Amino acid sequence: MRLQFIVILFLFVGSCGLKQPSLEVVSLAVEGRENFPGIEEKQPLLSWKIRSSSRATEQTAYQVLVSSSGEKLADNQADLWDSGKINSDSSIHVAYEGVALESYQRCYWKVRVWTNHGDSVWSAVNHWQMAMLHPEDWKAQWIGLDTFSAGDRPYDQDTRLAARYLRKEATIEKEIQAATAYISGLGLYECYINGEKVGNDVLTPTLTDYDKRVPYNAYDVTDRLKKGANAIGVILGNGRFFGMRDFHGNPNPMTGSRQVTYGFPRLLLQIRVEYRDGSVEYIHSDGSWKVTDQGPIRANNEYDGEEYDARMEFAGWDTPGFDDRTWKAVDLMDAPKGVLYSQPNENIKIKETLVPKEVYATSRGTYMVDMGQNMVGWLKINLKGNAGDTVKLVFAERMKNRDTLYTENLRYARATDTYVMKGEGTEQWHPIFTYHGFRYVEVFGLSTPPTVADFEGQVVYDDVQTIGDFTSSNETLNQIFKNAYWTIRSNYRGIPTDCPQRDERVAWLGDRIMSSYGESFIFDNSRLYAKWMDDIQVAQNENGSLPDVVPAYWIVHNDNVTYPSAYIIIPEMLRKQFADEATYRKHYPGMKKWMNYMWDTYSTDDLVLKDVYGDWCVAPEEGTDVIWTNDPKRTTDGGLVAASYYYYCLTLMKNFASLQGMDEDAAYFDTRAQRVRSAFNKRFFHSDSLYYGNNTTTANLLPLTFGMVETENRDAVFNRILEKTAEYGNHIHTGIMGAMWYMRGLSDHGRPDLAYTVATQKTYPSWGYMIENGATTIWELWNGNTGHPLMNSWNHQMLLGDLLIWYYEYLAGIKSDPGQTGFKGVVMHPIFPEGLEYVNASYQSIYGMIKSHWRKENQTLRWQITIPPNATARVSLPANTEKAIKEGGVPLGEVPEIRLLDKDEHQVWVEIGSGDYDFVVADVKWGE
Ligand code: BGC
Repeated sequence: MRLQFIVILFLFVGSCGLKQPSLEVVSLAVEGRENFPGIEEKQPLLSWKIRSSSRATEQTAYQVLVSSSGEKLADNQADLWDSGKINSDSSIHVAYEGVALESYQRCYWKVRVWTNHGDSVWSAVNHWQMAMLHPEDWKAQWIGLDTFSAGDRPYDQDTRLAARYLRKEATIEKEIQAATAYISGLGLYECYINGEKVGNDVLTPTLTDYDKRVPYNAYDVTDRLKKGANAIGVILGNGRFFGMRDFHGNPNPMTGSRQVTYGFPRLLLQIRVEYRDGSVEYIHSDGSWKVTDQGPIRANNEYDGEEYDARMEFAGWDTPGFDDRTWKAVDLMDAPKGVLYSQPNENIKIKETLVPKEVYATSRGTYMVDMGQNMVGWLKINLKGNAGDTVKLVFAERMKNRDTLYTENLRYARATDTYVMKGEGTEQWHPIFTYHGFRYVEVFGLSTPPTVADFEGQVVYDDVQTIGDFTSSNETLNQIFKNAYWTIRSNYRGIPTDCPQRDERVAWLGDRIMSSYGESFIFDNSRLYAKWMDDIQVAQNENGSLPDVVPAYWIVHNDNVTYPSAYIIIPEMLRKQFADEATYRKHYPGMKKWMNYMWDTYSTDDLVLKDVYGDWCVAPEEGTDVIWTNDPKRTTDGGLVAASYYYYCLTLMKNFASLQGMDEDAAYFDTRAQRVRSAFNKRFFHSDSLYYGNNTTTANLLPLTFGMVETENRDAVFNRILEKTAEYGNHIHTGIMGAMWYMRGLSDHGRPDLAYTVATQKTYPSWGYMIENGATTIWELWNGNTGHPLMNSWNHQMLLGDLLIWYYEYLAGIKSDPGQTGFKGVVMHPIFPEGLEYVNASYQSIYGMIKSHWRKENQTLRWQITIPPNATARVSLPANTEKAIKEGGVPLGEVPEIRLLDKDEHQVWVEIGSGDYDFVVADVKWGE
């Protein structure tokens, strides 16, 4: 009897649980970060996501509470801000509008929402802490060792220093309430408190031009400090502060550019300790600290690697009571010239570990480790040996043959780590102030054969979230996606580097103009690129000129249109993909200054023709080791490329001005755009043969894409592109400036099938050709396997062009509605190319998860879609009548949440709200 009752009760509760719609607020973030202790924005932007079991959920109102303590917030005492109930659908980037926030202020917050399908309870609590907002907050002094030490290689191809170890002990007498550490160690630092590392970031802080901007990191160290004796230890590495190459002030003979160096490494550290009694004390860097250069890291820099002598370790140096009598008093160092700021973008972390695919002996008695994947990071070793045995690790991306590494494409980067053993059982080690781009490692100096268990590849890059996934029925497409994924993560290092392996590793503006957009479908790169825009801003000359490499570790001021156009085009990507309204507004004056500078300095007859790189890296056909083509028939006039990109930037500027209500500016850019358009057509369009310039695909594609071609000529110009594509056997045949638009251009003008053919080619030149030749990442050159080593990285993302955008917006059909931003509206309009049977793609937008899973089943399309709460989608279904469509087995017209928008002979457009949908379309005529 009793058991029956329990069973009935259980069933009753269970069924209520099933029926009860659930609604909650999750994923709270402040300035995109969770529980971040270094917020500088005085009105930080708050975002949340809604989870709902009901379809078509839309937020109608929200309330945010912000308190100065967790206890107060638990009691709903919002002493910092109670927004009250705000009738609004905003759930992202809501500006804090409470009590003015001061340095160090801790803010605890939660939110609840009202929706058309019920109200949520309060969310879980998230917090943030304000950074140091005033220069006077700093009590710390810059310290270091202002001299070379014995063994340092002062001026050479590989300028490496021994790491500097700094330490200080401090006694804490009272009960600790909370403690926050603020650290800038330039070029790179690792900080330890009482023997334990602070945070789990590596290669910190983020890279900048230290003459302009100096980042510091904030960490909550409450749990690290204790009442009584404490010790703080910091290790400083070269990074980019102590330049890795120094040509005595002369330009680098190979690149012709001047290289920057800032001086010896230095540290600024301040720990703010708050006591239970309300008082505050600071532990900070000053002349009382001790330093030594006689620690185990004998030499370090990013290009050449790290040398470590385990016999020189001094156990306990970062714990209290260590005998530091042989250490020197630190030198007080000049502050770097740049402005100190709290770093908002993600630091680098160890994001994944790989087990080698194979370890084998070479004919020289060395061992080869094959990671099976071109990766970036380092090799952690796990080895035994005698004191003084030296293990040398040489890194390379490729092999000459199974026995020999190919290192020529590293140029002068030595990419070598050495570890001298202490001879005490199994020794585990990895470097901390270098990284390598590699798949293979040759190991020297082992007396017994190692196994795969003795090595671990640690993959390091910015701690950005992976937000996109893509698989399809085509293996080439899938492998290209994987290679792209690895290449992008290989080059996120606080700056978007061009390559991770040779003696370059700088951020070229041109490489990222459009690939940043494709990357944004796979990684949340919003803070990385917003940071890079700040880097570009401070790199701008007084007159408005922008360099081509930023941070300007290499000084390349060429004044061309295409590369610096990244400063205008990337903020548009941030606006579109992440609803970032702040970046283009902040940089608008700088962008305008550059536009005017280029116009005033270089325009003739209404055209800015100033160019340097042309349509960079067109696949050569004149010889296997040629780097790029010089064939005049295949290269595009750089002036045409420049003038068309300038036009495109004018259209973006006009839009940025309008969005800010700057009507005069909008009109000004518009007028100039009209002048450029007509001058461009006059100069470059051949009205007799209906093509632009010398009739390359890039010459025709750029004006076509940017809207410069007169309506009556559009079809003809597109036909020229089709002819050229056919001439090159349906292979990619543009350089990077054309490739940024090529896949979309083909698809938008009615040839998505051709785009698919180009994308899935396996013969030269194509992404598939790289794979056929063993690539696990994207190459810098279409002929990377045979091209000259001078410029031949195997981990370079620029040749991706607009391929990833095409994967998401066209193959998967996930695109942010151009009329809105940040995927508040989604346009789902996939192409269904012949030969492609299914696509499964997902994208974690700032509103939540978007999914598009489609599959052809003979003449039927099955399409499963997910849209997050507070967003809607316009969906194009391939049918000429809604009668051919069912959702969840129910005829379309009978599903209440689906609204019919429009139809023509090819498609039915519907609007859906949030939720999961399962569409089936019958009698599809594929390819129409
Ligand atoms: C870089 C490229 C860059 C080019 C410009 C190369 O060394 O790696 O990615 O666009 O220089 O000249």
